[in-house]
Amino acid sequence: MGPAKVCALVASGLLAAAGCAPDGSPAPDAGGEPDATGLAGHAPDRFGFGTPASEERVALWDIDVKPDGEGLPPGSGSVAEGRRVYEISCLQCHGPTGIEGPNDRLVSTAPWEEWPPGRAVGAYWPYATTLFDYTRRAMPQTTPGTLTDDEVYAVVAFVLNLNGLVPDDAVLDAESLRNISMPARDRFVPDDRTGGPVVR
Ligand code: HEC
Repeated sequence: MGPAKVCALVASGLLAAAGCAPDGSPAPDAGGEPDATGLAGHAPDRFGFGTPASEERVALWDIDVKPDGEGLPPGSGSVAEGRRVYEISCLQCHGPTGIEGPNDRLVSTAPWEEWPPGRAVGAYWPYATTLFDYTRRAMPQTTPGTLTDDEVYAVVAFVLNLNGLVPDDAVLDAESLRNISMPARDRFVPDDRTGGPVVR
């Protein structure tokens, strides 16, 4: 694409910012040699909108937790506290004991107890850390991000308790959560295929 076309594309109010003259031709002082994109010397360093993403602002979004527990925040929560969180924030969609719905069931203790095989936490999720990550980012579905980290630890403890994976008096924090061995951990194999139409 030639320089003149680039200027035409950005003509909607950005002419000056893009280093173009009002008639759409490159501004005389644009300078520089065109690179493979044809943009070199024509695009300014900044377009003058947006603000720099500070580390603090990025940190607010950078909340993913890895399967090995990397990224788990400080804090803790008990099964008992989790029951309260669940009743207020989860029960209406997942049912009193996590199996009634109307939305996804959260409890399955053996893959063969329902068909299709129970793809819920107890029988399917290979890492408890992922349950924290998912719950913190995605639930409650209509107001994700509203639970404190302590509340997430607590409700995760409660959901794991419903699945029979932690005792009634369990208190979970980063350390204990990453040490939970999920029954489904060995039900997955690494997909190491390197070719063929199903591999993208
Ligand atoms: C407004 C309804 C609603 C509320 C409230 C809600 N959820 Fe969900 N939840 C859903 C829906 C819908 C899905 C399925 C989302 C999808 O498949 O993309 C889901 C999926 C899940 C899953 C994944 C289930 C699986 O194995 O596939 C978990 C875990 C979960 N919710 C936990 C919670 C917890 C914990 C709370 C309370 C803090 C909560 N949810 C509150 C609607 C809700």
